[in-house]
Amino acid sequence: MELLTGLQTRRSVAPKDMAETAPTEAQLAQMLAIATRVPDHGKLAPWRLRLFDKVAQGTFGAMIAARYQFLNPEANEAHIAFERARPTRAPYLVAVLSTPVQGKIPVWEQQLSAGAVCLNLLHGCNALGFGAKWLTEWIAYDAEILKALGGDPAKGDAVAGFIYIGGIKEIPTDRERPDLVTVATPWQASGQ
Ligand SMILES: Cc1cc2nc3c(=O)[nH]c(=O)nc-3n(C[C@H](O)[C@H](O)[C@H](O)COP(=O)(O)O)c2cc1C
Repeated sequence: MELLTGLQTRRSVAPKDMAETAPTEAQLAQMLAIATRVPDHGKLAPWRLRLFDKVAQGTFGAMIAARYQFLNPEANEAHIAFERARPTRAPYLVAVLSTPVQGKIPVWEQQLSAGAVCLNLLHGCNALGFGAKWLTEWIAYDAEILKALGGDPAKGDAVAGFIYIGGIKEIPTDRERPDLVTVATPWQASGQ
């Protein structure tokens, strides 16, 4: 898709609406190169990407199910099966971790750079003809899952997002967008 049109029409594709097409190794390499070409104050690369093919998704799903069961001892089989399937809902999955480095660059700026990785990954997927969606859900906020992803909560690491990737069955219709006149206004000295 032409770049300008792609940027003007970007939409997320929900995992349930994806076709069962995973990126090839070469496509994935391109997606990841685009994803990591982000503004990065101090050139710290304060993010890490964890890649899940179908086998890794299954292993991760079993881990999530076990964690869910531990946190929710009353959970029934259906709930646990749902959690096991959570990371397997799309043909490919990338977890983006924010891994800030302590020093002179503010952590907030490093976290923004991790968010930029997520958005760039969406754009990279779209540019290569794939649908993608940035989800967090509870698994982004659990310290044990963060550790299993290689993040260290004690160092301020966090999950920036899980990016689900798959084929596009049909182009999603657009959703309502914020009114530019409301969200982008000339600055006034009064601060409004
Ligand atoms: C940090 C972040 C986390 C998100 N987590 C979720 C989520 O857990 N569940 C969800 O339905 N949408 C989540 N979203 C929103 C979707 O990714 C998506 O942006 C939204 O459905 C709007 O669709 P659009 O991207 O086509 O505008 C998240 C977005 C961001 C930026």
